[in-house]
Amino acid sequence: MSRKQIIIGLFGFGCVGKGLWDVLEQTPGLRANIRSICVKDHNKQRPISLDHFTFDKNDILNNQEINIVVELIDDSEAAYEIVSTAMRNGKGVVSANKKMIAEHLEELLVLQKECDVPFLYEAACCASIPIIRNLEEYYDNDLLVSLEGIVNGSTNYILTRTSEDNLSYEAALKLAMEKGYAESNPALDVEGYDAKFKLTLLLAHAFGIVEKPDAIYNLGIQRLGALELRLASEKGYKIKLMAHAQRLGKNNVAAFVIPQFVNGASRFYNVDDVFNGVQTETSFADKQFFMGKGAGAFPTASAVLSDISALSYDYRYEYKKMAQQSFDLTDKFSLEVFVRFENREDVPTSDFISIAEKYRSKEGYYIVGRIRFDKLRSSAWAGNPAVSILLTPDSSEEICEVSCSTNDCKCSQSIM
Ligand SMILES: NC(=O)c1ccc[n+]([C@@H]2O[C@H](COP(=O)([O-])OP(=O)(O)OC[C@H]3O[C@@H](n4cnc5c(N)ncnc54)[C@H](OP(=O)(O)O)[C@@H]3O)[C@@H](O)[C@H]2O)c1
Repeated sequence: MSRKQIIIGLFGFGCVGKGLWDVLEQTPGLRANIRSICVKDHNKQRPISLDHFTFDKNDILNNQEINIVVELIDDSEAAYEIVSTAMRNGKGVVSANKKMIAEHLEELLVLQKECDVPFLYEAACCASIPIIRNLEEYYDNDLLVSLEGIVNGSTNYILTRTSEDNLSYEAALKLAMEKGYAESNPALDVEGYDAKFKLTLLLAHAFGIVEKPDAIYNLGIQRLGALELRLASEKGYKIKLMAHAQRLGKNNVAAFVIPQFVNGASRFYNVDDVFNGVQTETSFADKQFFMGKGAGAFPTASAVLSDISALSYDYRYEYKKMAQQSFDLTDKFSLEVFVRFENREDVPTSDFISIAEKYRSKEGYYIVGRIRFDKLRSSAWAGNPAVSILLTPDSSEEICEVSCSTNDCKCSQSIM
């Protein structure tokens, strides 16, 4: 198969943009050249000649010679403007911007069809792990049962540093930012939004579900306190921020982002630092596990490079699941959770289907119990910043459908 010559217009020359420049310099076999780079700040020092740069997006968007736009900026609304204009101007697009893609997925699907141009975004989801391409090409049937993962490198890095080096949360976050692992707005990482944006993309490719990120519940790691960190260390657990998508019944999928206690038997236990891990489960092949660096200049640039290379062979996503299946997100399931709170009246035990454990000390209270997800999601206490909620170690194995109006649930209980 012959390869197309790729002339790139690059947006952004930060951590990933500069990473792509360096990676392209080391891969001469790929027939791809960066023609122009659009950045924002006129006063910033640049590590390469200023001749390569422009500050006017139209220099790239209206340049007929440029056939591929690579969008690597940190402003999701400006990115949507750039990406949609590039597509309307007949250019193929590569992006790493999960926030922009998750928030505009529906419009971007329409644009791909209307403009008949490819749009690839492997780097937007778990950076170096080729999970989107695998979901598209290998899991292109209806056998996928579940998908769960550590999909945010910076929170995993922060959690690893707090547990292994006893760093404070603030010091670990500062380190993650210095190393270029955290988003420019770190709240997107630590509050679980970045993981939710990635889950939005995974749902589209895994189950054909196109939903706004707002439809997916997310809790982050910013509420973790000394009690649960100590409990994890005493019991030999680690804490990981997990994204889950699980098929329930014929047409439903449970999806959420919640931190979880993980024990040594889990494959996720040894996914530390900036690494991501994704586990798929299918009807006949059981479980499969992907692991790789989930952030940083080169791991992310390598996924961008792979997309550019795929475009040189005219590859595009087919979104096969959308044509094959009809799945909807559901709130009608139950989970086992650990909840830590300050005052007895903060969390009513009557909200739980069952309680497996109660604990009270000077540091506060915690309970371990099974709760309906729709109850958790709608309760005011779950939104209280002083209340910390985690899944128990076996929780993801025990996600159960519940009937619409009752606490009817046949799942077993575990004690932490
Ligand atoms: N860093 C990672 O590990 C990682 C991993 C996966 C995905 N991503 C995604 O990759 C994208 C880039 O991240 P990054 O870490 O490289 O960001 P970054 O280091 O903060 O760099 C952002 C770049 O975007 C440029 N920019 C911002 N607004 C612009 C505009 N309106 N027009 C032109 N240029 C603009 C900035 O220009 P100036 O140089 O002039 O300031 C800068 O060069 C984001 O969507 C991020 O979510 C990052």
